[in-house]
Amino acid sequence: RTVYLNGEYLPEDEAKISIFDRGFLMADGVYEVTSVLGGKLIDFEGHALRLQRSLDELEMQHPSSRDDLLEVHRELVRLNDITDGMIYLQITRGSAGDRDFAYPSKDTAPTIVLFTQAKPGMADSPMAKTGMKVISIADQRWGRRDIKTVQLLYPSMGKMMAKAAGCDDAWMVEDGAVTEGTSNNAYIVKGNTIITRQLSHEILHGITRAAVLRFALEAQMKIEERPFTIEEAQGADEAFITSASTFVMPVVEIDGAAVGAGTPGPVAARLREIYLDESR
Ligand code: PDD
Repeated sequence: RTVYLNGEYLPEDEAKISIFDRGFLMADGVYEVTSVLGGKLIDFEGHALRLQRSLDELEMQHPSSRDDLLEVHRELVRLNDITDGMIYLQITRGSAGDRDFAYPSKDTAPTIVLFTQAKPGMADSPMAKTGMKVISIADQRWGRRDIKTVQLLYPSMGKMMAKAAGCDDAWMVEDGAVTEGTSNNAYIVKGNTIITRQLSHEILHGITRAAVLRFALEAQMKIEERPFTIEEAQGADEAFITSASTFVMPVVEIDGAAVGAGTPGPVAARLREIYLDESR
């Protein structure tokens, strides 16, 4: 695999960074995941804008322009012959040497890394047909989940808790309401209405979320942006998640209780179809 590091395209085993990089020592960095379907980048613009916002919130320099970034994405797709898959981008604050809680001076070079992950046939995931099972766990992340930082230990623990329970993912709950999945936004459906938590510091502002809500409105569905509880979700007609890596994925079981008929519902299926059609 060819990867990108600070302006260079390199074989993956030649891409090396300093042990003093603040991304490594302090999780001082941000990331984006952009999907590729049929060789085409999905929602690049949205990911580039959110990246800029994450960097601004952390007073971090953007080492690249939007146009250069697009070029790097395209070049990696080409060099690695990616038809379906993902591009991972990470920018960390770099380091001035030594470990220090205070940020290094503004002229410290950030570290930018991009690599691809091939996922042939990712749009035809069997899970779209069977649906996924989730458990609920307490949301124990920090309070600025709208910034897409690389601090992913708690979401990883959540994934492991889900696996240990024989499930696929965890929905995190705070003050009695669902915030989001470990790496996706959460939704329920009641009749013709889609319910999902409103944007705030409590959740990541999903790029797929924005697209799916736009398509839902165009398809005459209703949208309620508000918190919902696990109990309300268990009693809903349908539930689903969205993310760049799963698109729209039905949820059929929450903490052992079937949602609706316990099989993927028509609204999630339709939104998935529209999203994939519009993206390709
Ligand atoms: N995760 N919420 C969280 C906590 C996420 O980590 C993600 C994305 C989303 C969905 O955002 P988007 O639609 O922009 O992908 C919501 C990525 C895919 C990941 O960590 O792999």
